[in-house]
Amino acid sequence: MDTARWAVLTEGLCKRYGQKCALDGFDLAVGRGTVQGLLGPNGAGKTTAVRILSTLARPSGGRATVAGFDVTEQPRQVRRRIGLTGQYPALAEPLSGRQNLVMFGRLFHLDKARAARRADELLSAFGLTEAADTVSKEYSGGMRRRLDLAASMILAPQVLFLDEPTTGLDPRGRNEVWEAVRSLVAGGTTVLLTTQYLDEADQLADRVAVIDRGRKIADDTPAELKRAIGGNRIEVVVRETADLPAAVEAVARVMDRAAGGGGGTGERPAEPRADREDRRVTAPVRDRVTALTEVARALQERGVAVEDIGLRRPTLDEVFLRLTGHRTDDEPKADKRVEVAA
Ligand SMILES: Nc1ncnc2c1ncn2[C@@H]1O[C@H](COP(=O)(O)OP(=O)(O)O)[C@@H](O)[C@H]1O
Ligand SMILES: [Mg+2]
Repeated sequence: MDTARWAVLTEGLCKRYGQKCALDGFDLAVGRGTVQGLLGPNGAGKTTAVRILSTLARPSGGRATVAGFDVTEQPRQVRRRIGLTGQYPALAEPLSGRQNLVMFGRLFHLDKARAARRADELLSAFGLTEAADTVSKEYSGGMRRRLDLAASMILAPQVLFLDEPTTGLDPRGRNEVWEAVRSLVAGGTTVLLTTQYLDEADQLADRVAVIDRGRKIADDTPAELKRAIGGNRIEVVVRETADLPAAVEAVARVMDRAAGGGGGTGERPAEPRADREDRRVTAPVRDRVTALTEVARALQERGVAVEDIGLRRPTLDEVFLRLTGHRTDDEPKADKRVEVAA
């Protein structure tokens, strides 16, 4: 393995919990100084991967290096070079932002003066100077996450693991965290970031690996990934189920076939997609404004009553449907067979 080139390198990584494979032959190569997104729904294996790479869990099979060191054979060398922000903030709530950071600095064996200096640097870098002496219990969600990020940066790690850093935050908090991550990356830190949001991976990552049931199902730049799944989608909701075929016809005319829209040949689902229950038709489109105006006109010409029409980005569920042919919450067929046999 050419470990010098890669900040993180895994080969056939596995983690079993009893019968369950949380990671099932997971391969990943993260270039130094880059941001790697790990995108997947709940239960995909994201936290398991992060726990193994940060030496908190041992793999059942395969191997992994971080900053050139093997996570099972050289865990101490790995730990010295990484930072970790878990899915849930690990702050002492009765302490102020500054006190929290000084405490973490002391835990990392900085002397009092250096811990205080580092705390002030980080408070400033993460836009928390004004709130430095407020108890962290009073912080907004976005401020807490930023303080948590700052705490994982005390020793300026080579590789930083961020496990769902913005889950549960409102849009403003999310933007604040994104800004903080961008400034870390500008400083040269390699970041591996897990997320359930396509737009977050799009905003921050150089490459995005999509993970499903412990396996990687795609690994590309955000631009290529979006091209493969269709960047924008038009969505029409009709008032009467009987009008669905007319809506499908109207949407098909503006659909971006290069984005994967088409006859539903092979593994991929047919586009446009029509959902009878929701009376909804969706399809990928390229030119947003043309698509919207043309579909609206076509529907009006046919006298179709429209409840809603709009443009939006694909959801994670649609990314999965396109890449795997199944939804994020579908039960895997293979597992069902195993259950029946057991
Ligand atoms: N300690 C554990 N014991 C048993 N099963 C686990 C454990 N940790 C995770 N799992 C299972 O492994 C799968 C992957 O979990 P996880 O890595 O937490 O996914 P994610 O972070 O993507 O939501 C899930 O099905 C989860 O229930
Ligand atoms: Mg998780």
